[in-house]
Amino acid sequence: MTSFWSWYITLLSLGTIAALVWLLLATRKGQRQESTEETVGHSYDGIEEYDNPLPRWWFMLFVATVVFALGYLALYPGLGNWKGVLPGYEGGWTQVKQWQKEVDKANEQYGPLYAKFAAMPVEDVAQDAQALKMGGRLFASNCSVCHGSDAKGAYGFPNLTDNDWLYGGEPETIKTTIMHGRQAAMPAWKDVLGEAGIRNVAGYVRSLSGRDTPEGVEVDVEQGQKLFATNCVACHGADGKGNHAMGAPNLTDNVWLYGSSFAQIQQTLRYGRNGKMPAQEANLGNDKVHLLAAYVYSLSQQPEK
Ligand code: HEC
Ligand code: HEC
Repeated sequence: MTSFWSWYITLLSLGTIAALVWLLLATRKGQRQESTEETVGHSYDGIEEYDNPLPRWWFMLFVATVVFALGYLALYPGLGNWKGVLPGYEGGWTQVKQWQKEVDKANEQYGPLYAKFAAMPVEDVAQDAQALKMGGRLFASNCSVCHGSDAKGAYGFPNLTDNDWLYGGEPETIKTTIMHGRQAAMPAWKDVLGEAGIRNVAGYVRSLSGRDTPEGVEVDVEQGQKLFATNCVACHGADGKGNHAMGAPNLTDNVWLYGSSFAQIQQTLRYGRNGKMPAQEANLGNDKVHLLAAYVYSLSQQPEK
């Protein structure tokens, strides 16, 4: 804050308080002390007002607000360079210090618990009700924006409960995914295959999960299969079942990240797809990621409902 605004605020705050005190005392002066039957003399629609002093408790309420204001200004920073004298805050209160205090307290409280779980294998942590509760809370605040609060994903964000994996569902693989993130690289085929090639390969891809091509569209599935064999098997495998090492999805299982319609698959093929799972190591650290891995693992181990 510039010193002008700092002075502006200081003068305005203290000036207002001083003015209020003056007003309070000035109106009290010369007022009668006893209550009376006399009225102030005016009448509105027959309603008159007794000329009585302000009740004492009411007056004290005003005084209390002034005391509160002065106390607040003394405890907290705000006026000029004044840092405030709130106990427990060396050198004055700040938002950051208060936040740090809360974080320290939480770490002190939960740190040993995180450390205990971090020393256990992910599978075992996934059996622990308390760990899953903590993992669930971490998931809600760090992951649900993308994967949904039920972890069932959305368009472009994979479902984590279906035991169908881009990168693999082994406990340590899940942990690696969360820790270091993932970057998918499905190339764009627009210039390589041309529109007819895209159409044919899309038809073949749909046939892998038992889908027909829409009526009225000319598709040469056989040519699509040939194009697939030359261009796609390196990542998606000869049988189209995908490859965890590349994050290339299984195209035969009817689980779709970017949609299964003929139009959506063609869109995927034309322009490619580059889903990105952000790394959490720097953000959350090993112990929390360990808990999250256990939580995610547990989601895929539940029996189908
Ligand atoms: C370099 C490896 C690579 C090659 C080559 C490749 N893909 Fe992919 N493909 C991927 C990856 C990785 C993804 C996942 C993209 C993502 O998650 O964002 C993907 C996604 C897809 C999807 C979307 C699946 C879904 O669930 O929505 C389709 C369809 C697809 N590929 C078809 C093909 C076809 C057809 C070819 C050949 C013309 C091909 N891919 C070639 C790596 C590859
Ligand atoms: C900004 C959005 C975003 C956030 C936040 C996010 N993810 Fe992801 N996550 C993705 C995307 C996108 C993918 C798929 C990457 C791809 O297409 O290859 C993914 C993939 C994954 C996978 C791999 C799934 C598979 O099939 O192999 C796991 C596990 C995962 N995320 C867990 C988490 C957890 C746990 C968190 C919270 C710490 C989290 N994600 C936060 C976007 C996000």
